[in-house]
Amino acid sequence: MNNLLQVIKERRTIRKYQNKPVSDELLNTVLEAGRWAQSWANTQCWHVIVVKDEKLKKDLQQTVPSGNPSYQSVVDAPILLCLCAQKKVSGFYKGNACTPFEDWLLFDMGIFAQNIALSAHSLGLGTVIIGLLDHNSAKKILNLGGDKELVALMPLGFPADIPSAPPRKEIKDFVQYI
Ligand SMILES: Cc1cc2nc3c(=O)[nH]c(=O)nc-3n(C[C@H](O)[C@H](O)[C@H](O)COP(=O)(O)O)c2cc1C
Repeated sequence: MNNLLQVIKERRTIRKYQNKPVSDELLNTVLEAGRWAQSWANTQCWHVIVVKDEKLKKDLQQTVPSGNPSYQSVVDAPILLCLCAQKKVSGFYKGNACTPFEDWLLFDMGIFAQNIALSAHSLGLGTVIIGLLDHNSAKKILNLGGDKELVALMPLGFPADIPSAPPRKEIKDFVQYI
């Protein structure tokens, strides 16, 4: 298997983390991978808030439902990346939406997050994308301006447990040839 496909296939969502710090060098390598993500007209709508402060992590954990399987990851991982995005740039030209989808920020942020997740995995780190939370409360905690959205929380750290891969659909089940 070529290297990239192996990284793609072997990356897992990590919800349990070691109590071990992540160096600034590793963090920067992962952010560098995000930096090179493709985006609508190269608009690069991302804005990342790096949280290491335990109190702030605890406050943000309260915005995640306790039933979310990643509830504990928010405080256990040494780094919590808050993936935010500038509104109304991706998918817009001169302030007007170019497509019926209007804002493409979720699309661009997904690519950005995947670059981070794959590069983290290739460095022996783990991540989880947390999309199920009270976004408005988290925005307030982060003092985020009205021109931005908090899209997801992304704990980052060394895995304490690597789960087995959840099954995938077969190619024939999602591809149509016409
Ligand atoms: C947009 C998005 C939101 C997600 N939100 C959550 C979440 O709130 N809590 C959680 O535990 N996992 C979350 N996940 C992780 C998925 O459950 C996980 O990617 C999926 O089960 C496949 O497992 P794998 O990443 O190990 O291949 C999210 C993933 C994505 C892409």
